[in-house]
Amino acid sequence: MNEEATKTIYGKYNDTLSLVMEQITDGIREINARSLNETGHPLYEHLIYRIKSDVSMREKCARKGLPETAESALCKVHDAIGIRIVTGYVDDIYAIIRQIKLMPSCKVIEEKDYIRNSKPNGYRSYHMILEFTVPYEDASGRNPGRFYAEIQLRTIAMDSWASLEHELKYKHQIGNEKMIVNELKRVANELASCDVSMQTIRDLIRQG
Ligand code: GTP
Ligand code: MG
Repeated sequence: MNEEATKTIYGKYNDTLSLVMEQITDGIREINARSLNETGHPLYEHLIYRIKSDVSMREKCARKGLPETAESALCKVHDAIGIRIVTGYVDDIYAIIRQIKLMPSCKVIEEKDYIRNSKPNGYRSYHMILEFTVPYEDASGRNPGRFYAEIQLRTIAMDSWASLEHELKYKHQIGNEKMIVNELKRVANELASCDVSMQTIRDLIRQG
């Protein structure tokens, strides 16, 4: 193991963490490959993932009143591994979720459907926290260990909206914030309506 890696909050679990993330994302790529093979269409357009940076993870542990240890980062906080799946259509999100739940050694420990229940600001996405049992030691000393990942699933429209809204969060001094917040909310609803129409048109084309 390289010495740099052990300096992060993930300590000696740094390499295992990357390995587990690769295994999960390989499983997700397989789901897409299978769909492409069976139906001629992929289930998603983009798959992006990251290990939460050392700085962000330390901040999060501090915010939650947890000591800055590998055990906090990997066993108490559940989004050291963050995965985002971006689809063309809303139905594909639910199809992917059904298949993720069938992945071996995978257990859903939290689910938030911000698509059916959008947040007051207009945010839409489906969030899951997954627990994977793996044949490696985890930061609590369990072997087989448990590693966690947060998966966010959203359409391309939801994704571009979330990026724009995220920019707003990091602007501190902004003159017409109220108007922008209202416009974002209005656009979120318009995009959701377009997502429904796109889905309907797609279904008509694929039936015909
Ligand atoms: P944590 O303690 O951080 O896990 O909080 P939580 O479980 O209440 O968070 P939640 O599952 O609601 O959201 C986690 C992630 O979803 C965030 O880090 C963002 O990436 C994304 N997210 C949630 N709400 C919003 C939002 O209103 N706007 C944007 N742009 N992203 C959001
Ligand atoms: Mg969360």
